[in-house]
Amino acid sequence: MTFPTFHAEAVSDFHPAPSVDELEATQIQVSQSLPKGAGSIGIAVGVEGEVPREVGLNRTQLAAAGFEGKVGQALVIPRAAGPAFVVVGIGAEAERDVASLRHAAAAFARAGGHYAHLVVTLPDLGGIAPDVAAQAIVEGVLLARYRYRPLKRTSQQEPPLEALTLLSSSLPLEEVKRGVERGRVTARAAELARDLSNAPATLLTARRFEEIARVVAASSGLDIEVFDEKALSKLGCGGMLGVNAGSAEPPRLIKLSYQPKDARGQPIAAVGRVSLVGKGIMYDSGGLGLKPNDLVHAAMKTDMSGAAAILAAMSALSSLGARSSVTGYLMCTDNMPGGKAMRLGDVLTARGGKTIEVLNTDAEGRLVMMDGLVLATEEQPPPDAILDIATLTGACERALGNDNAGVIGNHQGVVDQVRAAAEKSDETVWQFPLDRRLRKELDSEVADLKNVGGVNAGQITAALFLEEFVAGIPWAHIDMAGTSRVETDKSWRSKGATGYGTRLLIEFLLAFSAPRETRH
Ligand code: BES
Ligand code: MN
Ligand code: ZN
Repeated sequence: MTFPTFHAEAVSDFHPAPSVDELEATQIQVSQSLPKGAGSIGIAVGVEGEVPREVGLNRTQLAAAGFEGKVGQALVIPRAAGPAFVVVGIGAEAERDVASLRHAAAAFARAGGHYAHLVVTLPDLGGIAPDVAAQAIVEGVLLARYRYRPLKRTSQQEPPLEALTLLSSSLPLEEVKRGVERGRVTARAAELARDLSNAPATLLTARRFEEIARVVAASSGLDIEVFDEKALSKLGCGGMLGVNAGSAEPPRLIKLSYQPKDARGQPIAAVGRVSLVGKGIMYDSGGLGLKPNDLVHAAMKTDMSGAAAILAAMSALSSLGARSSVTGYLMCTDNMPGGKAMRLGDVLTARGGKTIEVLNTDAEGRLVMMDGLVLATEEQPPPDAILDIATLTGACERALGNDNAGVIGNHQGVVDQVRAAAEKSDETVWQFPLDRRLRKELDSEVADLKNVGGVNAGQITAALFLEEFVAGIPWAHIDMAGTSRVETDKSWRSKGATGYGTRLLIEFLLAFSAPRETRH
């Protein structure tokens, strides 16, 4: 592989997303006896009860070293020979839930960060189903050990996790194995989303994103159709073309489709139809209203995280046997200040004919999303629900911080399905009201709408803008501006892009049930 010097053209064989390649994957096994070559063994210890004898220390000794058995704590116990023991806090049995198991697994993976082969002894699950627990533990370990490595060359690298063994003598093996397989698939998907978001914008253009999406679609049973600038102009996607106008790189609208199939590959009736729309701003410079040169804006290479989450989630649907049909629209272009860039006061025409006055070139996300939303509403038959996901507003990050994404929608049933998926995946959300009293802030002097509201509640006026394009179809919008990246390692989130939304979307799509009024 050529190491990139600078320009994307010169590095066409550089791979921005190594997790597409199966060869890089961690080997995961379930076993009833200790495997050879283990680097460290995680032993679960709660805040109450006995400390397993093999640890060789009692509670008082562990407490003296700062370990009380709380979730998130992990302590390496050095030994003269053989694999290291790591005591892993799993808290109180009464409070044990799936999120705490995932979190504990992540703490273990980080404590044994320099080992290439980890072994987890499965703890007492306290009522959690073995497959659900195994899935969460695999997710916690794999996601905590994730690093974006392809551009590290001469500095010290942490070793990749080569193998993970789940050790269990008492739990039903088949159930554990089923959960492990699901966890492997969901974690790999989230890793793909992280790779794509962590890749520098010059190395991951919309065209390169298309190439990767084609590889992923082919290997995961998705249909793919790609619209270039000519096709977008035929479709009348004025938002995509307006945002792209200042860029030297052409835009791409990538449409993915998943159809449920039986074991013989024959299409089967879908239980529901969902359309997904993702913001794919490869780099958000702000356009002519250029963003200042501070570090916050280095995050703008991750402004395609919504599109990445959709590609990643859809890549898992066939392995997980999803029973709804799903269409994804990835709205890919960068937002650059070239000589042909859209100017303030310019008017764009969205797919479907609505006109939009551009009064802030940095409110570009909604301009590309509107074309995708309209295309989603035009499907025949129309989708039961539309879900969109975007790093849309700084206002959302300001309001909620970095742990919860915002969710907002025109249909409480769909919003509630998003909230349920968010709880299951620990990619949590908080709902904002779609308060139509703010709608007048989007009135324009010369066009149907303007692309910014007032100074307050920017995440709500952004959602009201998007609502104009969903034709009344049940819809929810996820604003992931605050959750798309973390500055430091935090539980299963590794510093950099979090892959937020990938596992949430997977859970949403697996559990989706059509709102009653749209069933046909
Ligand atoms: N991509 C940004 C939003 C963003 C901010 C994402 C912080 C991740 C972290 C978006 O395109 C943007 O610039 N939004 C503007 C909207 C405003 C001009 C109405 C913002 O939030 O300032
Ligand atoms: Mn912007
Ligand atoms: Zn943006």
